[in-house]
Amino acid sequence: MGLNVLVAGGAGYVGAHVCKALARAGHHPVVLDSLAHGHREAVRWGPLVEADIADRAAVGRAIGSHRIDAVMHFAAWIFVGESMTSPLKYFANNLGGSLALLDAAMAAGVRRVVFSSTAAVYGEPRQVPIPESHPTEPINPYGESKLMVERVLRWLDRQQGLRFAALRYFNASGADPDAEIGERHDPETHLVPLAILAALGKAPALNIFGDDYDTPDGTAIRDYIHVADLAGAHVAALEHLAAGGASLTLNLGGGSGTSVREIVDAVARVGGRPVPASFAPRRPGDPPRLVADIAAARAALAWSPRHSDIDTIVRTAWAWHTRG
Ligand SMILES: NC(=O)c1ccc[n+]([C@@H]2O[C@H](COP(=O)([O-])OP(=O)(O)OC[C@H]3O[C@@H](n4cnc5c(N)ncnc54)[C@H](O)[C@@H]3O)[C@@H](O)[C@H]2O)c1
Repeated sequence: MGLNVLVAGGAGYVGAHVCKALARAGHHPVVLDSLAHGHREAVRWGPLVEADIADRAAVGRAIGSHRIDAVMHFAAWIFVGESMTSPLKYFANNLGGSLALLDAAMAAGVRRVVFSSTAAVYGEPRQVPIPESHPTEPINPYGESKLMVERVLRWLDRQQGLRFAALRYFNASGADPDAEIGERHDPETHLVPLAILAALGKAPALNIFGDDYDTPDGTAIRDYIHVADLAGAHVAALEHLAAGGASLTLNLGGGSGTSVREIVDAVARVGGRPVPASFAPRRPGDPPRLVADIAAARAALAWSPRHSDIDTIVRTAWAWHTRG
């Protein structure tokens, strides 16, 4: 029998893909989203409750009327740069909103939460690949706000029997292999869509920040995980918690590094046209290399990435951006 899952932020990029995976696995997603950044048309696998997570009463009503068993929490502001200039905006939504959501869930007796955390909780990496035991020293309010929620979840586990999965994503990328949904942020700050939009002439030439890193081609290396692999891990984490499993804090990445230049080359190859690009100075706080150690997720969830090779990521993203 499927679970009724409140998907906060489910009209956004990652949440929408997780809703599709939930429905495929026999569960029942109920999206709660303010549509501040989400897309109504991305909500296809269950009802939409248009509300803010900070609206405790609305969240409580949604949980009660849909007989919710578990919460998946994607709702947040996500722009690292903006978090540096407007920190309170980030703490208010990402932490304050989460507290209201968790309060409503606890009051309604919901004790299972899957939370979207981020590699930004680690800050400057001291070792690569990065294991979950790496010190957590965020260097921006975005990462700090996510770490604060992780800490709240840990206290709720200890004191009140909540069981959670905090999933620390590296770079989510790619699109639904059926091209029903894809990545659409406004503003877009992620490399794969920016490179595709530049190649299609729908965005300015791509800025490549730094070509003088100590990496094989001089550009920064990141860990890209296909959003379908992320979605699979979320379903596995939910089912682990529903079966009575202990709380988890796990990295989710593809487990290997790809340079900016390799992504740009892959977009040009898949799209069959050049990607207009120019080099810009490194951005402060952008380390040369960020790669996830994903051994813990593999072991705890019996999961491994299946779509996270760069060609599949770029091919599915390109197909979605150029769909009819
Ligand atoms: N995309 C990535 O590479 C990445 C990496 C690490 C972590 N994350 C985390 O994953 C989650 C999803 O990211 P995404 O890329 O899908 O972002 P997104 O902006 O596409 O989706 C976030 C959704 O949350 C909604 N939302 C925001 N604040 C809300 C509120 N107060 N009440 C109700 N709805 C609200 C937005 O309308 C949007 O639909 C975020 O929590 C983000 O921090 C994403």
